[in-house]
Order: sequence, then structure tokens, then C-alpha cells
Amino acid sequence: MGEAFLGIDIGTSACKILTLSAEGQILARGTAAYGLAQPRPGWSEQDPTLWIEAVRSALAGVLAVVRPNEIAGIGLTGQMHGLTPVDRDHKVLRPAILWNDQRNAHEAEELTRLAGGSAALRQMTNNRMLAGYTGGKILWLQRHEPHLFERMRHALNPKDYLRLVLTGEVATEVSDASGTGLFDTHRRQWSDELLARMPFDAALLPPCFESSEVTGRVSRSGAALFGLSEGTPVIGGGGDAVVQTLGSGITAPGELQTTIGTAGILAAVLDAPRDNDDGRLQIFCNVAPESWHCMGVSLNAGGAMAWLRDVLSEGTGSPPTFDSLVAAAEKSVPGAGGLLFLPYLNGERCPHPDPAARGGFIGLTARHGAGDMVRATMEGVVFALYDIFALMRRLGVEGSLIKASGGGASAPLWRQIQADLFDCDVVTTEGAAEGAAFGAALLAGVGCGVWRDSGEAARLCRPLTVQHPDRHDGARYRELYSAYAALYPALTESFSMLSALSATETRAT
Ligand code: XUL
Repeated sequence: MGEAFLGIDIGTSACKILTLSAEGQILARGTAAYGLAQPRPGWSEQDPTLWIEAVRSALAGVLAVVRPNEIAGIGLTGQMHGLTPVDRDHKVLRPAILWNDQRNAHEAEELTRLAGGSAALRQMTNNRMLAGYTGGKILWLQRHEPHLFERMRHALNPKDYLRLVLTGEVATEVSDASGTGLFDTHRRQWSDELLARMPFDAALLPPCFESSEVTGRVSRSGAALFGLSEGTPVIGGGGDAVVQTLGSGITAPGELQTTIGTAGILAAVLDAPRDNDDGRLQIFCNVAPESWHCMGVSLNAGGAMAWLRDVLSEGTGSPPTFDSLVAAAEKSVPGAGGLLFLPYLNGERCPHPDPAARGGFIGLTARHGAGDMVRATMEGVVFALYDIFALMRRLGVEGSLIKASGGGASAPLWRQIQADLFDCDVVTTEGAAEGAAFGAALLAGVGCGVWRDSGEAARLCRPLTVQHPDRHDGARYRELYSAYAALYPALTESFSMLSALSATETRAT
């Protein structure tokens, strides 16, 4: 048997792959980017063949360094909540509808009604059915594309579609299953009670495993397509937001994790499935048995920076780099000279589950420049995470340390804003910057028995950097946060009106 573990992450903007040695050393990495289609406001789709091609291309580089027979196991992770509909021949029926797609707000409500109301639904799943979760998307397909719905045999999350192509097996695991909104997260199984009330067949949902279980092996066709060894075990893995927490070395309560990827996430580990009182947080099964994951997701974090970069450079043909944007923000001041940014560019999920929420710069004056706008964007993203923290505290979650991850964690300024506002140390760990692929590789090692459990695997996530809070800036940020937190309630009605006005508009992608 080989000694390396492969982690594959089907992200929203790119696929990221790495191999890890049993000592936790990264042996090789690969990445390949792809695009996102937004054919209507609030819609977000991706053609699954893009994922497969990206995995092939990123893997080619990795396999030039680590031989296929050196790979002992493969862990999969990826963007959660997506619907990849496949027919009985495992053919994809339409582009996947992604996690940040808001089209099915009505169906999410309808599903909640069928469940007997939101309290009844929370009894069954400990979560509300947020627009964006897979459950409402299945209903949307049934309503709006019945010809495709009739042919659908499996409703798969993105990483589980890759599993199908790799192994020929239809399977998922508890963390991504939680994100469908149809899963009994207390019992760690599909909610029979809820599925009995649904107008679709429960058999559309894949058999569910614990995250470190072996779900299948690379098939002959999978081996030929990807250049891997036939028979290599493929481990359950997990949804990116959940696996990322393991990849940062968090496996027990007491520490917080922030991820600034396309979305912004604040997460913590729970040792029991606490009651999710109003369902605004997500309480999912964690990737270790007997462990749960609590998080709030703000839909636009790194995504908001990417948007701003594109807007600032429209028509110039040369978008600024992330580093140059951060350098411009460093020249501004904490609070960006009285400028606030609301990051709700694709609606919002937490703490405001509102597909109609809209973004905005508030407080603009003629003195503000691009650097202030970038700074306000970075601060607005952290304010959104702090908004989520207020909800988590109500559940009794505390954190004396933040472990920062995602592409945004590479900017010291973005980490310092977190340290100041949350008033605690912010560390980065080895592997966290690699995204969820690192956690997926750790899970592969657990699945192959190299590490006893995820707690032991997580010891490989050694700290790399630490930043301490600045009292003075922290006080300023918390003052600004109160102004930020008052904006959404004040603007809700205007947002609904603007969203209704733009709803019928169609754009070429
Ligand atoms: C988690 C979530 C995002 C996506 C995309 O609930 O929606 O983290 O998984 O990364």
C-alpha cells in the first residue's frame, strides 16, 4: 500500500488537490480554475464536466510528483448544497445548481410547509430549510423542469458526483447530507419522517456513510480517466465548510474558525447537537462520529473582493492583484473614514436568511477613494462574521482563539481586523491555507487507519502565524459594528423592492 493521501476539493471557483504524507507533509499540489454561470439575478450554476476536466488537469501535475500507486486513499470535499441531477445511466441532466443560488426561496418555504412548519422541520433536522439547500432545489426541478425531474435518479452534491465518476458508486456522507436540509442530524441518517412528507421519492438521495468510512474504490474507468490506480479506496470526505474546520486542526469546542473563501464562514465544533433555536445557524454532523459542527455562512466574502476587483478594473483589461488591493486598503484607516460595506451581493444566509438582501456602500463621501472601498469591503466581511458570532453566543458557543483559513487568511490585514473586532488572537495553521483539500486528505488517512481518529490527524495542523488584538482599533471596530448591524433592519423593505424590480431581468452569461 502507498503512503500518501490525496485530498480533492471541488470548490466554487477552482478545484484544489494535494497529497499529504503520513507525517503531514504536503508532497504535491495542483489547482485548476473554472467559471460560474449566473444566467439570472440570484441564479448560480456550473457544468459538472468543468469539475471533471479540472480534476484531471490538476491531478496530472500532482501525479507527476507522486506516483498513483503511492496513493493509499482519497478524500473528497467540495462546495455544499448543490444539486447535480443524474439519470439512471449516471448522465448529468442539466448544469448543477449551486449553494449560492437563491432561485428556490418559494420551494424552501413550500418544503417547510409540507414538513408541518418551521418548528416541526427543526424537530426533524435541527435546521431550517434555507434557500440554497439541496432539498428546495429538488422541489424546484420538479416544478420548473419536470421533463428533467422525471429522468433524475440521483440528486448528488458536487463532490459526490466526482465520487460517482471515480468509483461508479452512488454515496454521500453525513456532513454534506446535513446540508441538504433533509437529514436527521441528531440520528445521523436521512429523516424518514420528513422524506415521507415530500412529493419526491426518497430513493433520489444517496446512501449515507460517516465521513471517514470507505465508500468505494477507484473503478477501471475512473483509473483510466484520472490516471489513478484502480482499487484505491475513496473515503466519504465532507462538505468543504465542515472539512475545513478539521483542516485547521479544530476537533473540539473552545476555538472558532473563520474561513474567507468565496463565502465567509464562522464555525465551531460541538460535542452534542445543541438545539438550533431559530434555525439561523447551521448545525450539521461533523466529520467525526459523535461530533457536530455549528456554523453561520455569509454568502459573500472573498467573492465580494473579487467583485470589487472586477468593477474597479472594468474595461482596463488588467485587474489588480489581490495583494495590490490589500496594499491599497492598508493605506486607508480602520473604519475606512466612515465607510461601511454590506456584503449581501447575492442575498444573504446568516444571520439574515434573505435572498432579497442587497449589498451597498454606506457613508460614501467625495473624499473616499478605491483604497477606502477595499478596506470597507474587508471590514464589512468581518462585520458579517461578527454578526454570526452574536448568534453563536446565544447558543453558548465561545471561542478564545480564531483559526483563520481560506484565501482571505493570506492577508495579514484581514486577520488583524478579525483579531481586533473579536478581541482575541488569530492564528493560521499549516494546511489551513490549502483549503478543505488538506482536511480531506486527513480524512483519507483516518479512513485508511493511519491516524486513529480526526483528533489525532488534527495534530498535524501546527500553528504558523499569530496576531494579537489591538485594543484601540478593536474599540473603534466594535463601535462601527453597531452602525453596521443597524443597517440591514433599516433597509430590509428597500431591498425587497429592489429585488422584486430586478427579478424578471435576464442576462447573457
Ligand atoms: C456552507 C456553504 C459554503 C459552500 C461553498 O454551508 O454554503 O461553504 O459549501 O464553499
